[in-house]
Amino acid sequence: MESSAAAAPPHGTVRSESADHTHAIGRALGERAQPGTVVALVGELGAGKTRLTKGIAEGLGITGVVNSPTFVLMNEHHGRLPLYHVDAYRLGDPEEGVAAGLLDEGHADGVAVIEWADRLDAYLPEERLEIVIEIAGADATTRDLHWRAHGRQHVRLASEALGS
Ligand SMILES: Nc1ncnc2c1ncn2[C@@H]1O[C@H](COP(=O)(O)OP(=O)(O)O)[C@@H](O)[C@H]1O
Ligand SMILES: [Mg+2]
Repeated sequence: MESSAAAAPPHGTVRSESADHTHAIGRALGERAQPGTVVALVGELGAGKTRLTKGIAEGLGITGVVNSPTFVLMNEHHGRLPLYHVDAYRLGDPEEGVAAGLLDEGHADGVAVIEWADRLDAYLPEERLEIVIEIAGADATTRDLHWRAHGRQHVRLASEALGS
């Protein structure tokens, strides 16, 4: 089998030592995000998905408050680019998200950040930067951000903002 065809997508791990550190990682992502950027966040409650999203928002120049859109599934914010902030926590099943128009072509002009992205399952855009936030170590503020980049745009974003 050809090794290039079987190659895993570019991936890596960034360790965050604090909530502020996670915010700064998000800001670096937001500063370099482009139209069509999709950031798919996975991690248990309290992992830091919203914290990372707030950093992304700041990097996009968004000055308003960014909280989890728990009751509406998606919030829209406007900075350098629109930010579509999705929280799939309350999604009954992935198709419900599609029916609600959570992620369609209308969002290609901006940056989509999806908390609980695993709940959208196969309906996630194929091209995306996936970040699994793992609560790591004995220290309550240590997180490992395991990222995997799908598609050229997201590979470039990861290499610029996550430093690999
Ligand atoms: N390294 C870290 N990164 C992100 N959040 C952290 C970190 N260390 C501690 N925290 C705390 O964990 C909580 C994460 O909350 P939140 O971002 O809302 O999580 P989620 O959206 O994944 O449920 C916050 O209270 C934050 O201050
Ligand atoms: Mg959250």
